[in-house]
Amino acid sequence: MGNVNQESDRPHPARMYDYFLGGTNNYDADRSAAKEILGVWPTIQVAARVNRAFMQRSTQFLASAGIRQFLDIGTGIPTEPNLHQIAQNLAPDARIVYVDNDPIVLAQSHALIASHPDGATAYLHADATDPDSILRSPQLRDTIDLSQPVGLSLIALSHFIDGDATQLVGTYLDAFAPGSYVVICQVTGDYDPAQVAVVREIYRARGINARERNREEFAALFHDLELVEPGIVPPHRWRPNGIISPPESHDAKVSCYAAVGRKP
Ligand SMILES: C[S@@+](CC[C@H](N)C(=O)[O-])C[C@H]1O[C@@H](n2cnc3c(N)ncnc32)[C@H](O)[C@@H]1O
Repeated sequence: MGNVNQESDRPHPARMYDYFLGGTNNYDADRSAAKEILGVWPTIQVAARVNRAFMQRSTQFLASAGIRQFLDIGTGIPTEPNLHQIAQNLAPDARIVYVDNDPIVLAQSHALIASHPDGATAYLHADATDPDSILRSPQLRDTIDLSQPVGLSLIALSHFIDGDATQLVGTYLDAFAPGSYVVICQVTGDYDPAQVAVVREIYRARGINARERNREEFAALFHDLELVEPGIVPPHRWRPNGIISPPESHDAKVSCYAAVGRKP
């Protein structure tokens, strides 16, 4: 796609994340920024993998809790297993709408719309900070029944939202039925403030809005929601499938908070 090439001379969060995950959908500008970050936060690749594993476990949790409709905003470049594959493995009739604002994710979105025949998937190129354009889109209206609960997935997205993310999450949840869930994982400076501040400035110097949130700011994203056990924890400590608990020093390597909230 033409605009993909035009966008290749500046780094994008999706492609930097792809590099951290060991993918090949990234350009020199992405690799250069990613390597600068690795110099400051050498374990960010661990954080990316832990985050991805949290996406899998939280999606399994929602599907097991009966959620059959998912809105995944800030999807990222397709990385198997993608969210719809996790959800449809447990519930083949699950319906998923993916949203991202990166042109390379749009260019690769065919991998995201390969639904199980009993379910449905759709892809929308849109900005998370424009909820109206997402909630009113034909992709969402044709795929998701807003009278039924929705699982909203905002994983590794909110640290790229510099504005009032609490209000933004509230706007999405207001449109959803009781019994809906939101899943959030986001970078925090609570474990290593100096390191995370340097990383934030590397992103910002390249024109990417980035901000960490402390525990209080992260908790505010779940305002008016019931937190699912175990509440707010680093993502590797959220229902870790019986894996032996990692040492506390691991928390600073990951430097993220994760939680799942339910709309009563
Ligand atoms: C770090 S990746 C996370 C990918 C995936 N959710 C995961 O956790 O594996 C962040 C994604 O959010 C997207 N993103 C950032 N800001 C966005 C915005 N305002 N609207 C939509 N997508 C956005 C980026 O393009 C990127 O694909």
